[in-house]
Amino acid sequence: AGPCDIYASGGTPCVAAHSTTRALFSAYSGSLYQIKRSSDDFFCAGTTCVITTIFDQTGRSNHLTQAPPGGAANGSDPNGFDNLAAADGAPVTLNGNKAYGVFIPPGTGYRNDATNGIAVGDAAEGMYAVFDGTHYNGNCCFDYGNAETSVRDTGNGHMEAIYFGTGGPGGAGSGPWVGADLENGLFNGGNTAANPKSPSLTSRFVTAVVKGEPGTWAIRGGNAASGSLSTFFSGARPSGGYNPMHKEGALILGIGGDNSDRAQGTFYEGVMTSGYPSDATENSVQANIVAAVYAATSLTSGPAIAVGSAVSFRATTACCTTRYIAHTGATVSTQAVTSSDTQALKLSASWNVITGLGNSACVSFESRDTPGSYIRHSNFQLFVNANDGSKLFSEDATWCPQAGLSGQGNSIRSWSYPAHYFRHFNGILSFDATWVFNDDVTWVVGPAFA
Ligand code: AHR
Ligand code: AHR
Repeated sequence: AGPCDIYASGGTPCVAAHSTTRALFSAYSGSLYQIKRSSDDFFCAGTTCVITTIFDQTGRSNHLTQAPPGGAANGSDPNGFDNLAAADGAPVTLNGNKAYGVFIPPGTGYRNDATNGIAVGDAAEGMYAVFDGTHYNGNCCFDYGNAETSVRDTGNGHMEAIYFGTGGPGGAGSGPWVGADLENGLFNGGNTAANPKSPSLTSRFVTAVVKGEPGTWAIRGGNAASGSLSTFFSGARPSGGYNPMHKEGALILGIGGDNSDRAQGTFYEGVMTSGYPSDATENSVQANIVAAVYAATSLTSGPAIAVGSAVSFRATTACCTTRYIAHTGATVSTQAVTSSDTQALKLSASWNVITGLGNSACVSFESRDTPGSYIRHSNFQLFVNANDGSKLFSEDATWCPQAGLSGQGNSIRSWSYPAHYFRHFNGILSFDATWVFNDDVTWVVGPAFA
């Protein structure tokens, strides 16, 4: 059985079911999701791809597609749409089989404003999602659930969605916490105060549960790879316009109800139900998720770039095969370098490989002439900057090398924005996603010059 078979047995059937990793009904044999090549609409081999549609497995056509602009924000894709997720940003295994989740950087989101069967008004519903407990931030709002059909903030109680991150009132420890977004309010318990009964959920895979019925609602969660769910809150609706609820029935993933789009997180699977699921039904769903055996897998591919080594990056585009990634202060570029150049130039093109500051499965590149400074992206450009110790810096400076897109060497992919790579163009080192020229993003990684 799948999670939706369990919800159906409990009398609270799924009315939307989304997953890029597995079927959520035992009988579902349709597609899980659709991808497209970033440069055009063909296949993904040797290039970069994005997820365009996450299909609804219930037959109700509650598919998730690229989110449109809203009251809070326009996305940076054409016509103000949000970005689409890179298709290979969140590799995992389920029972040993490779699959990919939906890795959502800030600016990325999915939505459906014309749904079928999702709760409206004060009607009862339940929902769960499986997330990556190590990928989050404190911004608004990494949500999965029920939101406004107008992509506008239409008032308190117009949303009922799972929120995961550190943006709410919080709970025990330093987060992240499972919470709810009820519009103009992130909640980790029954009111706007921190909830000491809500633990930080830092496991690699997290199950998050929210459900609501007239007058009552609950927040639950646990480790999606082992153990059971705990109830962090169950009780009365918050005061201040949240009782009765005014749910509108749109579906969101990775964004707030008004398209607030600065949050990040990773989604693997989730459903919406009709009716208020019992704790026992949700506990059976959790057992089903644990039995799916989510596990982390390698985030890198291609020639190994060993932690503890010192490297150079040689361009492979025909124009530029004597040029290497080098820096002058904060500015990164490609420069022609040979072993007979000055020690200063050679050092400027030489990098220590260390364990990734933001994810230990990837790497960071420390400047050999400026210890404590690293190649990082900021505002979608590359810089060499001193580590300021922040979570943002550590993630901006984390790179997951891949097999070179042009067929040799490595392409250096960002951990936090996996559609983006080290790319050179007219001698400038940039951080591109679209029109990634395979040669421009492919580097022969060799020993350091100095
Ligand atoms: O409730 C938090 C956020 O506030 C909602 O997601 C958004 O619509 C509003 O900005
Ligand atoms: O480069 C993209 C983002 O821009 C970085 O994560 C952040 O530092 C800046 O806002």
